[in-house]
Amino acid sequence: MKILVVGSGGREHALVWKIAQSKLVDKIFCAPGNGGISREAECIEIKAEDIERLVEFARKENIDLTVVGPEAPLAKGIVDEFRKYGLRIFGPTELAARLESSKVFAKEIMQKYNIPTAGFKIFDHPEEAQYYIEEKGVPCVVKADGLAQGKGVVVAKTLEEAFQAVRMIMRERIFGDAGKRIVIEDYLEGEEASIIVITDSREFITFPPSQDHKRVFDEDKGPNTGGMGAYSPVPVVTENLLAEIEREIILRIINGLAKEGIDYRGALYAGIMLTSEGPKVLEFNVRFGDPETQALLPRLNSDLVEVILATLENKLSKFKKFTPLNWKSQACVCVVCASEGYPGGYEKGKVISGLEEAEEMKDIVVFHAGTKREKEKTNTGQQIYRFVTDGGRVLGVTGLGNTIKEAIINTYQAVEKIHFEGMHYRKDIGKKNLRNQSYKLEERR
Ligand code: AMP
Ligand code: GLY
Repeated sequence: MKILVVGSGGREHALVWKIAQSKLVDKIFCAPGNGGISREAECIEIKAEDIERLVEFARKENIDLTVVGPEAPLAKGIVDEFRKYGLRIFGPTELAARLESSKVFAKEIMQKYNIPTAGFKIFDHPEEAQYYIEEKGVPCVVKADGLAQGKGVVVAKTLEEAFQAVRMIMRERIFGDAGKRIVIEDYLEGEEASIIVITDSREFITFPPSQDHKRVFDEDKGPNTGGMGAYSPVPVVTENLLAEIEREIILRIINGLAKEGIDYRGALYAGIMLTSEGPKVLEFNVRFGDPETQALLPRLNSDLVEVILATLENKLSKFKKFTPLNWKSQACVCVVCASEGYPGGYEKGKVISGLEEAEEMKDIVVFHAGTKREKEKTNTGQQIYRFVTDGGRVLGVTGLGNTIKEAIINTYQAVEKIHFEGMHYRKDIGKKNLRNQSYKLEERR
């Protein structure tokens, strides 16, 4: 089979890396890909959101299957366009992608189908939002309705912060039309977990729980980022708790979408807050998580392409029964190495050293997020390649271990071999896992 992966980050590298192991696959393309991906797939210079050119490419190359990484092309209807031409593609339609591209849509559907989530109110006018905040008080959470590259959520601890969020999003429109409407949510407290499933609208298969680290500095300090690291499994999500999440959240949203006549064949991500009242949904994403995927796929023994094909053929039920996904019992940790200044502005083009040394280590794989591969001539005139930084999040160094502790040690040993000017990373990825094992169903009620 010929496969096309759409996207250019660490998640897409992990997808390409895993898909490359499939016996069903002959050739992989990635659009646009990155330096690391270019070793395993042919990178083509088409942006992830350039749907017209992607369709044209897939038709010309007779691509058998396309797998979409990021939300933007899904929200723009890439799946609908590919299907028009009979091209097989994994991901939800534009309508189904509204679960992520409109917070208003997501909240309304959660309310309708009785899915536990933070209390909320929707606003079209900034004055009304302001009155509401004054009445309700803080903390509260202000969310732009539309996609805002992960920056449209403000957890406001003071009235001034909340008012400012409303002003920036609704009046100044810093996220454009994404800020035409907002959702104001009750503030939830607890531990966060990411639950990713694959669904064909009828059945679903749950991946092991994982946890992201969104803040830039250790101990969850500093501004939010696209994710500074992840690990899996998450012991705080016990088997009982996962069963509850599946029953009260995953099943309800899948059945709810089906009742609305919305076909969903792809990955579905629920960001969950484990509150003292039980698990509640913070957000749905209509794709695999980044960097959660990097901490999950190295644990998967099964062929990812087989489960994707079963999903697209609506055969997940049979697949689940006869060939359930097989996961390594080992734990996995992914540490993101970022450019100086990230998540603010940063420079590109810094030479990365130590990659080979890290990759030679047992149970280590380095996923590239923002790198470029450049040709270089050695003193002897020999042509070699080198990698330079090309984004905010540069690498996701990923390691397995028999315990989470071993995985942490292994991964950080690999991180220490890698260097580029200004490189920074969190030193505490996975540490929460060692601390927080106390959230139990029995203790809640
Ligand atoms: P979202 O994109 O909606 O998941 O929000 C991004 C981050 O904001 C989440 O991962 C949480 O850390 C935080 N957040 C979102 N909604 C709430 C809420 N209702 N209460 C507390 N924190 C929240
Ligand atoms: N890890 C959060 C996300 O993928 O949106």
